[in-house]
Amino acid sequence: MGLFGKKNIFLGIDFGASSIKVVELTFKNQRPELTNYGYAPVPDGAQRGEVLAAILKKMKPRTRAAYVALPGSSGLVTLIAFPQMSHAELAQAVSFEARKHIPVPLEEVNVSWDVVAQDKDLTQTDAQNAQNTQDVHAQQAQPQKSQPQQKEGSIYVLLVAAPRKDVAEYESYIAQASVNLHALELETFSLVRALVGEDMGRFLIADIGAHSTNIILVEKGVIRANRNVGIGGANITHSIVEALGLDVQRAEAYKHEQSDLLSEKGVARQSVDMIVEEMRRVGTSHGTAMADNIIITGGGSNLKGIDSYIGRALGTSVALGNPWARITVDDAVARYAEALRGTYTVAVGLALRGVEEYRRS
Ligand SMILES: Nc1ncnc2c1ncn2[C@@H]1O[C@H](COP(=O)(O)OP(=O)(O)OP(=O)(O)O)[C@@H](O)[C@H]1O
Ligand SMILES: [Mg+2]
Repeated sequence: MGLFGKKNIFLGIDFGASSIKVVELTFKNQRPELTNYGYAPVPDGAQRGEVLAAILKKMKPRTRAAYVALPGSSGLVTLIAFPQMSHAELAQAVSFEARKHIPVPLEEVNVSWDVVAQDKDLTQTDAQNAQNTQDVHAQQAQPQKSQPQQKEGSIYVLLVAAPRKDVAEYESYIAQASVNLHALELETFSLVRALVGEDMGRFLIADIGAHSTNIILVEKGVIRANRNVGIGGANITHSIVEALGLDVQRAEAYKHEQSDLLSEKGVARQSVDMIVEEMRRVGTSHGTAMADNIIITGGGSNLKGIDSYIGRALGTSVALGNPWARITVDDAVARYAEALRGTYTVAVGLALRGVEEYRRS
């Protein structure tokens, strides 16, 4: 805390596969407000730290407090149920289970875990614990703070793992751009924070990026299932290149303009169908009916007609995620923000973490 009290300004930085997005939120009048933003594509072979430095030079943000995301494909988020046991037993059981879920030697990953719910109905959630679980730049597994209550039913542990080399890579980009890393989390958490917030309903989120789609099932504020599929908007562009013989730039422009890419013989069909299949799998992964709230976001969610197409395929309505729903946005930038709402979701979720920490402190 400085001489002038707590800083109420936060930067969310999303290193996407195709572009870097930055959002500055200021908490004032009891509400977060969008006070600055920046965006730049990352051309093949570009140095991400340099691209970020260039964005910040233009933006001139009023804070260096950065909240940063690792791509969902980089890490693993998994919910594991254990029978009731003591804290010491649980710590042992989690590290044993972690070996089964994590496909590389444990020395190569940062692992953290926390009890996020008790009971088979996931009735008790502990937001504070869930918060601890999100960090991936801690050096080792964080011990759980509170003793789980002894009672019937399961203990739900959320296990989070990210490769140390990826963490180090992102830390180096941040250092290069001279910002202070306040937290590094998997984008899965940023997406949930931006789109679900405190809502206790059942949500299926699909963040359709350039090269991958991150699919998350959330219930009562807890991530129940998460899967990353290696299909995104770039696959659709590639299909256009192949079908029409356009170069990548023209194919990209064509994709933005056309409204029939999901028609019966539409060129986007194959990629979107694969995304839909994964959404169906994750959405019903607990043997239950499809989630009530289906939200798509990411640049790929801007494809014309994709929301109604996915809705028809899954037999339910699909909403375009709106990360600005709980944020004050000035009229002067409202149209820009609206047009790019899918693009900024992760960055908004990250900056909102700063807001949440500020409000709690
Ligand atoms: N208006 C549009 N219509 C169709 N596709 C679009 C539109 N705008 C953006 N896209 C696509 O969205 C994708 C980029 O989305 P986004 O910025 O969310 O990805 P990213 O975060 O860089 O990648 P990833 O999440 O895979 O790391 C690109 O494939 C782009 O072509
Ligand atoms: Mg992305």
